[in-house]
Amino acid sequence: MATSTAQIHSEFTNPNLEVLISEAQIQERIKELGAQIASEYAGRNPLLIGVLKGATFFLSDLLRAIDIPLGIEFMAISSYGSSTRTSGEVRILKDLDVPIEGRYIIVVEDIVDTGLTLSYLLANLKSRGAASVKLVALLDKYERREREVPIDYLGFPIPDHFVVGYGLDFAERYRNLPFIAVLKNPDAAQLELPTASV
Ligand code: IMP
Ligand code: MG
Repeated sequence: MATSTAQIHSEFTNPNLEVLISEAQIQERIKELGAQIASEYAGRNPLLIGVLKGATFFLSDLLRAIDIPLGIEFMAISSYGSSTRTSGEVRILKDLDVPIEGRYIIVVEDIVDTGLTLSYLLANLKSRGAASVKLVALLDKYERREREVPIDYLGFPIPDHFVVGYGLDFAERYRNLPFIAVLKNPDAAQLELPTASV
């Protein structure tokens, strides 16, 4: 009864998804990254800046794997439409609430794709007088890079597929998957969405 209904509507076993990186693989890699960051930033009180919304899932798990004093902040940014993509112009929708002069900054991002967003953001943060600005990214879709972006700490390189889960969305859906999956048919994903309440 209730169980079968839950299975029919299961998002995590949706047949339109093909698991690329499992929950266990993600969590294991995060433990390694966290230990590495903790040893390299001991005594520096780093400020981790999460890019909304996608990176919040990664940030939340990563923080709990970094066993040193640290702070967190969030920024929201949006790229201009595809017509101006090559310009790399980016808009800050939500800025930091604190000055970062002299701080050791670690930007936390879900995925580096073309690199346009990150190259803008890293330059912007460096111009504010931070002691250092480094980047940790869960995924690197390196084949699509248009702007060089140094990824100081990387979870996983991935091939050029559109991926969802663990914070990454397709039209705001799938962020809640505990794993990273390839969306087999994006059109089907749109059609499946309920249009009225059940
Ligand atoms: P870029 O590196 O400036 O091209 O943009 C990176 C942003 O595009 C990421 O922060 C994601 O929000 C989004 N993005 C890029 N590739 C994917 C994907 O495969 N799935 C979901 N979002 C993606
Ligand atoms: Mg993003």
